[in-house]
Amino acid sequence: MKVIRSASDYDFINNNNISIVPTMGNLHDGHLELIKSAKSSNAYVVATIFINPLQFNDKNDYKNYPITIEEDLKALETSGCDLVFLPSSNILDNIKTINAPNSANILCGKSRPGHFDGVLTILNKLFQLTNPKTAYFGLKDYQQYILVKDFAAKNFPDLIINGIKTKRDINGLALSSRNIHLKEDQLKIASNIYKELTYISNHYSYASYDDLINQAITNLSDLGFNVDYLLIYDASRLNNVTKSSTEILIAIAVYLDGIRLIDNIIKKL
Ligand code: PAF
Repeated sequence: MKVIRSASDYDFINNNNISIVPTMGNLHDGHLELIKSAKSSNAYVVATIFINPLQFNDKNDYKNYPITIEEDLKALETSGCDLVFLPSSNILDNIKTINAPNSANILCGKSRPGHFDGVLTILNKLFQLTNPKTAYFGLKDYQQYILVKDFAAKNFPDLIINGIKTKRDINGLALSSRNIHLKEDQLKIASNIYKELTYISNHYSYASYDDLINQAITNLSDLGFNVDYLLIYDASRLNNVTKSSTEILIAIAVYLDGIRLIDNIIKKL
């Protein structure tokens, strides 16, 4: 596995089947699943690790973002990654700002203004530098996945964006770099997020929407969560659900002792 730090070192890569897995490091099995999926299509797999300051609206969140490069490199090598690109902060010099569309202003984008502008800005740059044929993203960040898919369709029409199913721990908690901040008892409590999503998914009907959401918010609040949002959207375009929707996204963001956790379930109707 090659490790490079400068975009100019990338120039020698002459491969027309590059698959990119953009990350901010502190890799867990969910990230490694993306690498393995990319690898299984026989692509030349490029992982990027860059903690992108442009997408953090909270300075403390950025400062506290865990850095585990040595462990990340080992895990990437074991998973079959071919090249790791660790850009330095000068990747941001003269970077073209991308303004995310209006669909970025709901769900996570509503509570994190500018977040998706930052995500699309860095991805635009990374796609330009690495010239991938395919790119892999986790479906835990479903809104990000939809925004990236739309952005790529307009600006990189040959690039295929793949979304990979969320990896969970044995109790159902979605794997996330933020779980590192949770103590053992908090990890147990956090597994209730997926339990509530599953309950809603199993009992969903158009008419029961409000009751299900309100009950889940009450249950989670009683357990000590601060619920940022718990909402159901039409999964295809992130519009409001209608009676003719065929697939829904049940999406949640909560704070547990100040730690932000997100998750979702996608359900076919
Ligand atoms: O999902 C992430 O880790 C980040 O938003 C991404 C896609 C690497 C862009 O910085």
